[in-house]
Amino acid sequence: MSSASASPIQDGGGGGAVPRHVAIIMDGNGRWASRRLMPRIAGHRAGMEAVRRTIQSAGTLGIEALTLFAFSSENWRRPAEEVRDLMGLLRFYLKREIKELDRNNVRLHLIGDWRRFDADLVRDLEQAVARLSGNGGLQLTIALNYGGQDEIVRAAQAIVADGLAAAEVDAAAIEQRLDTRGLPPLDLLIRTSGEARLSNFLLWQAAYAELLFTDVLWPDFDAADLEKAVIAFGQRERRYGGR
Ligand code: IPE
Ligand code: IPE
Ligand code: MG
Repeated sequence: MSSASASPIQDGGGGGAVPRHVAIIMDGNGRWASRRLMPRIAGHRAGMEAVRRTIQSAGTLGIEALTLFAFSSENWRRPAEEVRDLMGLLRFYLKREIKELDRNNVRLHLIGDWRRFDADLVRDLEQAVARLSGNGGLQLTIALNYGGQDEIVRAAQAIVADGLAAAEVDAAAIEQRLDTRGLPPLDLLIRTSGEARLSNFLLWQAAYAELLFTDVLWPDFDAADLEKAVIAFGQRERRYGGR
């Protein structure tokens, strides 16, 4: 076993520990809206407020890294109008929240193939990352045009491009080329809205993450829900294959 593949084993968990790195599949915006006889975009707008609340509570709870699944590499399959709405909301969110994120010392990372978005959105995203790059507080990562399989394929391509020999390809070589390189190991993966699947999110990183599925729809997710998840994590026993 290569030394670096042991990285997920070095963190805490159990015994009331706070997860260092929490990721969330923010699901259920559409159902939240349709239950209110509202258009789906209203659910996405309400979901944006949940993002803002969650970032704040993550900081308060002492979480180091928060990774949010905002747009998957499969979400292009949605009607063009909804894709357009989601992109519009993302631009609006960046514009509206950047100051507040900066004030709260949040650092921003992006994972996924987000450079394939429209050029003006790519520029907005680059500017946001640059503006927050000197911050040392919560490490916020937003997954945009992200797919776990795509991320692993791109890492494999990088390994070939870097000219590694077969014997040099180990878990560390892959991890160093994943979009999440540099982030703490994933401790807790939450999915809202009652669906119990990964939908291609953080496939590599979830190897030993604790999984938590809640029926709460994403727009309803609040500080108490995050705290409950953190407490549940603290009660889990992580074994990593040992005894
Ligand atoms: C999650 O909510 C937001 C994105 C995937 C962008 P959904 O839009 O998937 O909501 P449901 O699953 O249809 O309720
Ligand atoms: C996963 O939710 C993607 C995001 C939350 C961004 P989806 O709603 O797209 O997943 P499926 O289609 O139900 O698996
Ligand atoms: Mg969904």
